[in-house]
Amino acid sequence: MARKTDSRTQLPGLEELPTGATGRPVQVFEEPAPLKSHGPARIVSLCNQKGGVGKTTTTINLGAALAGYGRRVLAIDFDPQGALSAGLGVPTHDVTTIYDLLLSGSKDPHEAIQQTSVEGLDIIPANIDLSAAEVHLVNEVAREQILARVLRKVSNDYDIILIDCQPSLGILTVNALTASHGVLIPLECEFFALRGVALLIETIDKVRDRLNPAIELDGILATMYDSRTLHSREVLERVVDAFGDRVLDTVIGRTVKFPDASVAGVPITEFAPEHAAAKAYKQAARELIQRGAVA
Ligand SMILES: Nc1ncnc2c1ncn2[C@@H]1O[C@H](COP(=O)(O)OP(=O)(O)OP(=O)(O)O)[C@@H](O)[C@H]1O
Ligand SMILES: [Mg+2]
Repeated sequence: MARKTDSRTQLPGLEELPTGATGRPVQVFEEPAPLKSHGPARIVSLCNQKGGVGKTTTTINLGAALAGYGRRVLAIDFDPQGALSAGLGVPTHDVTTIYDLLLSGSKDPHEAIQQTSVEGLDIIPANIDLSAAEVHLVNEVAREQILARVLRKVSNDYDIILIDCQPSLGILTVNALTASHGVLIPLECEFFALRGVALLIETIDKVRDRLNPAIELDGILATMYDSRTLHSREVLERVVDAFGDRVLDTVIGRTVKFPDASVAGVPITEFAPEHAAAKAYKQAARELIQRGAVA
């Protein structure tokens, strides 16, 4: 990933700029220019083995925000709970799911793609069948590379593929990491958040070593941040201390609008486009584009 060099500290008068939640000066991320051509996709896994940190919410809303900037986005539901499919309001029964594609190499993945209510945002759904994948894949040859093979067939049709991982580091997540160019780690701003991240980074390093030399850590996105609590501020400070500029400047605040939008089956960018949280995900999209993590 082509990371911009950080020249901010050299800018005169910078100390007068307002400070963002990460303790760094607030940056402006420009509206991205429209793409002149599309594909092949950069594939990014949303990964954290800790449950309920905002992986699915980030996949939905980042996906919608990127689609809003004219990017062609495919979201992969890679969790047997099917929360991504539900959050985007698509059916998961009597349809082809990601599980069917993993099991049958001859199936055309285009069959499984469904459109969502957001223009430019498509999805391959999942349902509870996917929980059997662990068992089925164990005896497969090159079992870690099965998702990569599936996605190769649709990659040219999209600019970005986002994989919503389940909260574990099992074979499904290893498949997602093996298929990915980058990983984005959503991290909830609470006390135990940091605990699992070292293990996750170790797993990413192993995948890089053994299966996918090109994989990069695209960033850590702090979620559920509540600026009114000292606790949230302290946790974010520790995260930035530990991970430096791998932590995105954009921070997602805690708000009940997210559960509300999930119930409605639409992204917050559609449900409440003027809400601060919708704007935050749009900013995250612009920041990731500027960092080169997505097109
Ligand atoms: N910024 C936020 N503020 C408040 N609630 C949020 C926020 N982001 C997500 N939520 C809510 O927190 C819950 C967990 O979020 P989400 O499902 O995105 O996490 P997850 O990491 O995908 O969970 P799992 O590990 O179970 O897949 C959901 O009810 C969601 O609506
Ligand atoms: Mg989830």
